[in-house]
Amino acid sequence: MTSKKPSVVVTRKLPDIIETRMMELFDAHLNLNDEPMPPSALVEAVQQADVLVPTVTDRIDGALLKAAGDRLRLIASFGTGVDHIDFAAAKERGIMVTNTPDVLTEDTADMTMALILAVPRRLSEGERLVRSGEWSGWSPTGMLGHRIWGKRLGIIGMGRIGTAVARRARGFGLSIHYHNRRRVPEEQEESLEATYWQSLDQMIAHMDIISVNCPHTPATYHLLNKRRIDLMKPHAYVVNTSRGEVIDENALVRALHEGRISGAGLDVFEQEPAINPKLLQLENVVLLPHMGSATIEGRVDMGEKVIINIRTFVDGHTPPDRVIDSMF
Ligand code: 8YV
Repeated sequence: MTSKKPSVVVTRKLPDIIETRMMELFDAHLNLNDEPMPPSALVEAVQQADVLVPTVTDRIDGALLKAAGDRLRLIASFGTGVDHIDFAAAKERGIMVTNTPDVLTEDTADMTMALILAVPRRLSEGERLVRSGEWSGWSPTGMLGHRIWGKRLGIIGMGRIGTAVARRARGFGLSIHYHNRRRVPEEQEESLEATYWQSLDQMIAHMDIISVNCPHTPATYHLLNKRRIDLMKPHAYVVNTSRGEVIDENALVRALHEGRISGAGLDVFEQEPAINPKLLQLENVVLLPHMGSATIEGRVDMGEKVIINIRTFVDGHTPPDRVIDSMF
């Protein structure tokens, strides 16, 4: 890269303060109207840029990277999940990939906890009832949900977000169970009073609430498939703030329709932004528009991380949030 400002193409509108700083530091090309870039614009971007700043809504696949010019050296993604990027293809072309971990952990854990509360306690249904004008007043048997306190929460993926969910959930009287690729250190297990299940199947079969907090990788695609959903107790709930692809959505919808499980809280979907129409018919689901990390503070922190990753890379250092093989 030359000493002049690097050409940085940002695919979506970012907070003003981040865009302004990017204009000061880089030869930044911003997306003022925030429309997702069509494939042709993405091809143009990877051909002219030194650095591409995509988000989860951009598909950075092998074909696109093949079309990239020699200038493109860094994909500094705005987000933690990197399943929208063909990492192997980037690596093959010598293009580094960075993400923005840590800064959205607490916000996403808050939203997970909100869904853990909202589904068994029928929050969305209650809200819809009040807004419909059909609420006829309190009754002893009206809007009965299920108690959270004393139930078992099974966390799939005890990374940063899973751990932050566990911390919150303890305060609500849930007992913590988890399944993870690797067992977490003993001190962490002890401080969370968490029970490790080596067998995901066994854990699923014993939980009252399941929370999906693992990343979407080839190994976790449809981790919650029909067979595993069938292992869930009929009174159990599932919440997902990770990626839609971790759950076989059709199998989930069928189980919900047939009353084989009690409900679901979903912030993410397999074909975003398309929503399976059958999900919309169900009362016992809470559906959110991928807003787990959507706080102003979080978005600014994510932007700061992107800037730091670009700056360190341009200065010839290893960016702090470099994505590596072992993350998959
Ligand atoms: C982000 C997310 O908002 O960071 C992630 O992986 O899923 C979201 O919370 C999104 O990815 C921004 O690109």
